[in-house]
Amino acid sequence: ISIMILVTGGLGFIGAHTVVALLDKNHKVLIVDDLSNSSISVLAGIVSASGKSPVFEQFDLKNMQKTEQLFRDYTIDGIIHFAAYKAVGESTEKPLDYYENNITPLINLLLCAKEQPGQIPFIFSSSCTVYGEANTLPISENEPIKMAMSPYGNTKQIGEEIVRDATNVYANIPSISLRYFNPIGAHSSAKIGELPLGVPQNLVPFITQTAAGIRESLTVFGNDYPTHDGTCIRDYIHVEDLAQAHIAALEFIQQSNQPHFYDVFNLGTGKGQSVLDIIHAFERVSGQSLPYVIGKRRKGDVVAAYAETTKAEKMLDWKATRTIDEALYSAWKWEQQLKR
Ligand code: WQD
Repeated sequence: ISIMILVTGGLGFIGAHTVVALLDKNHKVLIVDDLSNSSISVLAGIVSASGKSPVFEQFDLKNMQKTEQLFRDYTIDGIIHFAAYKAVGESTEKPLDYYENNITPLINLLLCAKEQPGQIPFIFSSSCTVYGEANTLPISENEPIKMAMSPYGNTKQIGEEIVRDATNVYANIPSISLRYFNPIGAHSSAKIGELPLGVPQNLVPFITQTAAGIRESLTVFGNDYPTHDGTCIRDYIHVEDLAQAHIAALEFIQQSNQPHFYDVFNLGTGKGQSVLDIIHAFERVSGQSLPYVIGKRRKGDVVAAYAETTKAEKMLDWKATRTIDEALYSAWKWEQQLKR
């Protein structure tokens, strides 16, 4: 039986990039994905981007019998749990689907992990959305957690608490929650990238689809915010930097060897960019002008969110190194090679 890192949701956007980074570092990887919000074509993309093959199992982690069988079939020596629904707006229409799909698999995984003989480092995919509209910028990990603005955000808050409480009791699942700011971009090989199914909710895939002529024009959701140019500010982090942070977190836990270890880390660049900044940067790297109109504010948007990054830098010995231009250029290259 080969030992390996279980990556749930490993055919998703951040999951696939993390799988490639793990394979590049000669980890063995086991992907579990139910393909409910991803495409099997990503598996071939991972193989061509890394030159290696992960093991792939397709099933729904809400199924406890199949989850238990997975731990009998493989010796899993680390878990990175990405699998979840992530559309903020959709979560307000289907809250129960979000609670069931984002919480049950997490509990099933932890119930199985705690029964394993060895240490199983557990990395939980969380989000800066837990901070809501922060009182202080940049946002550090001890920024108070706000009342969630959506059922999606609440599943991340609840998920973090479940991981924390399980780690407090069971000594063999040391764990870390990683709070992502805004992941963008694609692998430098352009073999994997963001694959929004349907109309993109997020800014950068909407920009690249507009530039590719798939969308008429971009609507900027409001330019009357109290920021330098009236548009919202976010911390856009290259997905490859984000993937490296998961490796750093896993290695930190493996080396620290502290049972019951639990901590949370913000993952961002530490720099804020406005929507218009992103549009102008994209026009610069793509050499194309981007058609956009100013529309109404989008419900639930916070004015500004960008990370205070010293905790991950100091403890995980990790920092984002790629520039916004590199991220946008990689997103554009990915969009161009996609045969829509
Ligand atoms: C960024 C900015 C929009 C689209 C969300 C989730 C977060 C995480 C990342 C899951 C905002 C503006 C966007 C468009 C626009 N998802 N925008 N026109 O909302 O910061 O974060 O996605 O983990 O949890 O909350 O990202 O890319 O949707 O928006 O003007 O067509 O771009 O108003 O200011 P967001 P986003």
